[in-house]
Amino acid sequence: MSKVDAWQFTGNDATFSLKNPDLNSYLYFPLANEAGMMSCITPTLSGDIKTGQNSFLMTPVSAEDLHLSRSSRNFWIYKEGMGAYSAAGVSAKQIANRDSGAESSTLEAGLLWHKITRENAEFGIRSEITSFVPCESDTVELSKIVITNISQQEADITPTFAVPVYGRSADNIRSHRHVTSLLQRTEAEKYGVTVKPTMLFDERGHSVNRNTYSVLGAQGNGQPPAGFFTDVEDFIGEGGTLDWPKAVVENLPPKAVVGYRSEGYEAIGALRFKKVTLAPGQKAVFIVALCVNGRNIAEKYLSEEKFDRYLQQTKAFWQKKLNINFHTSDRELDLWLKWVSCEPVLRRIYGCSFLPHHDYGRGGRGWRDLWQDCIALLLMEPEKVSEMLFQNCAGIRFDGTNATIIGAGKGEFIADRDNITRVWMDHAAWPLNTVELYINESGDLDFLLREQTYFKDRLIMRGKAADTEWGEEYGTKLQCENKRPYLGTVIEHLLIENMTACLNVGRHGMLRLENADWNDALDMAAQNGESVAFSSMYCGNLKALSALLRRLKGDKKVTHLELAKEMQILFDGFKKAETPVQKQQFLKDFCNTCRHDISGVKRRFAVDEIIETLDGMAQRLAVLIVENEKVSSTEGYTWLNGYYDNDSERVEGEKNGVVRMTLTGQVFPIMFSVSDDKLTAEMVRAADRYLFDGSTGGYRLNTNFNELKMNLGRQFGFAYGHKENGAVFSHMTIMFANALYRRGFAHEGYKALETLWHHCMDFEKSRIYPGIPEYINQRGRGMYHYLTGAASWLMLTLVTEAFGIRGEWGNLVVSPKLLAQQFDKNGNCACERIFAGRKFKVVYHNPARLDYGSYAISNATLDGMQKEIKNGRLELTQEELHALSRDKLHIVEILLKEKNSDD
Ligand code: G1P
Repeated sequence: MSKVDAWQFTGNDATFSLKNPDLNSYLYFPLANEAGMMSCITPTLSGDIKTGQNSFLMTPVSAEDLHLSRSSRNFWIYKEGMGAYSAAGVSAKQIANRDSGAESSTLEAGLLWHKITRENAEFGIRSEITSFVPCESDTVELSKIVITNISQQEADITPTFAVPVYGRSADNIRSHRHVTSLLQRTEAEKYGVTVKPTMLFDERGHSVNRNTYSVLGAQGNGQPPAGFFTDVEDFIGEGGTLDWPKAVVENLPPKAVVGYRSEGYEAIGALRFKKVTLAPGQKAVFIVALCVNGRNIAEKYLSEEKFDRYLQQTKAFWQKKLNINFHTSDRELDLWLKWVSCEPVLRRIYGCSFLPHHDYGRGGRGWRDLWQDCIALLLMEPEKVSEMLFQNCAGIRFDGTNATIIGAGKGEFIADRDNITRVWMDHAAWPLNTVELYINESGDLDFLLREQTYFKDRLIMRGKAADTEWGEEYGTKLQCENKRPYLGTVIEHLLIENMTACLNVGRHGMLRLENADWNDALDMAAQNGESVAFSSMYCGNLKALSALLRRLKGDKKVTHLELAKEMQILFDGFKKAETPVQKQQFLKDFCNTCRHDISGVKRRFAVDEIIETLDGMAQRLAVLIVENEKVSSTEGYTWLNGYYDNDSERVEGEKNGVVRMTLTGQVFPIMFSVSDDKLTAEMVRAADRYLFDGSTGGYRLNTNFNELKMNLGRQFGFAYGHKENGAVFSHMTIMFANALYRRGFAHEGYKALETLWHHCMDFEKSRIYPGIPEYINQRGRGMYHYLTGAASWLMLTLVTEAFGIRGEWGNLVVSPKLLAQQFDKNGNCACERIFAGRKFKVVYHNPARLDYGSYAISNATLDGMQKEIKNGRLELTQEELHALSRDKLHIVEILLKEKNSDD
């Protein structure tokens, strides 16, 4: 078989092109803006468009619908003497002939726009269709369609743009699809068709609908369409289909003119434009807009000049927003990373729903994802994120659990979607990780002392009981006995989260798995499961908390914290409880104090004592993990067990010839220094032996357990090599790399990164556009593209670890862990990023192209001024940083030279 065409970068702004993209399946591309427009578009203009779960303009699509459904954006041409042709490549005839080579297409896409050029010599037409969502406050998707007569003769063409308008909630796909069509009210207006259903159909309580969905268009510079079809059945005709509609195939006159109304039918926005005669080489231009609740859309966007202007503005917007740039020996990689840096922004917009693979969820953002996406956002737009972090703290319950879904608005928290009460044992670990990064980047220690409310709903006792006294009138803010909302500092929130988690231990002294940890698919061991993996993370968190407290004391002279008096129970639990049963009792006593309200009384706690208590527990936990959880195989490899199942059995190790090992079980002990260097090296060796698979992107999430483990989770029902059951799951693979870098295992970390990104960039294998997908499946295909926590972690790892440009209590520290092969042929390597509101470009010069481990910084300058090297690194203090101008790019140049033996 011939090699497939692969995408290629075409410029320096991450634009890429791909020949005949429609010869690949499952490709899709996001188009979105911060106003909440969420589109997805395929090479044949399929996909969907929505602003939320209940407002889909096009019919919602799952990955399979991308080839199943005929409902798509389409631009039809009826050419006298030749018949019907789809400029999107989607007519029954063209689909059947897709492989014949009669038609060629090329995709070009950039941040965040999509252009497809299609040419059919026999039909004599070339079409270029450019689509984007402007970075304005409108929820609109725009396309410009340029049709060129490439034949030698004059061509008479009749154009029709057509998009079925679904116009309702995704839920209605299998909840009264037909009945909800009876709610549709469709009207032909000057520039197009608008659908406004009468009601939002929901049998739990119908309500008046306020959403309108419009398909608008103009020819040239603002000429409205000549007529319309507003109902799908009129457009396709009896016996017709959306890919062979009679309205086009038979060139029927438009059924509707301005003012036409239709009620109770599946709607379509089919805009029939005036017939045009094109001389050879001549072009006709059309602009179309698809909008939800649009206002003045026609006036604002429907001309070529306006379209081009907004497109330029949108391109510039994304280029500016995505402000991290890399320069390494691999130019392709540098550009590919631009797409990765876009992904956290996309996930802020789409949540974990609304792209074809993400066919679950109902919008909103999940707790752990929200906090981790903030990591990349912190690196790119720190000023905005600080407030977001603060607001998110209001999602923490006083018992240490939290709301699971966060809406777009301030303070919009939802406890359990689909009314499932679940507690994920890792949730409480992530906020501290992100807050710690924020404080290191900004130096804003005062953040810890800001006061915030706690989340309150009917769930109490860490999801195990309900507060029957609670009702909606109480609201979602925990109250004191005097009925005022209780306010506690951010550090109090973080202490509660981590201390309660550490008391919630199972039989082996490890933290209970509850309904899952990071791995959502370990959801069947709620009673007796334990996550050793995340016990390590919490252990690291206790150490991080005491480091923050030391700093608060040192820098801010905070010797005491005012904390809720109920927290005494947690401190006692930490100090006095020895057995798991005792720990659980303290936890229960604590949870009992906040069943409905809490006292509201604060007490002073000495910072030194808190530090000692936290450190003591961290130390005991670490010892327990390393002493009890080492497992090995008969071949002589050693690693750490990550889990106990619901029968309280150790999950990992070797039994009956089957080696069971998880990557997660290794990542967190390494990341949080629970394993020492020797053990870490052994764990890496075992991961290389049992988890590494170069042909699917590197380190897999687990070995094949070859068993349906009903006492651990749904993961074991998935086919091996897919999603959480042993795929190369990008997020964990990248966290593995991050952990290794943190510990100075840069070569090992790089290997994890490199194998994964090379796989993603190999289009023939991964079949995805540039960027990192959630995972690589058993056949090597990239799955769940664009919305993954892996993106944030990859940016974090490269910027703060490999390039070593990071914050330490607000100071900028520069200390690289780059490998020889990352330097270009002149021995240079660079990274641009914002820090303290200033733009920096850090350029490393390594003329001898020395490898990590053999070089040291021998000289450093900032904007040409000599800087001192201390402890082998450059450190710019907050004062120095603040003296720098905000407007210019500051250049840091670092010279790397052979390390002296005494370095
Ligand atoms: C997804 C979820 C994440 C979860 C992971 C593993 O990962 O978003 O919350 O931890 O699956 O179950 P992601 O796509 O972010 O990499």
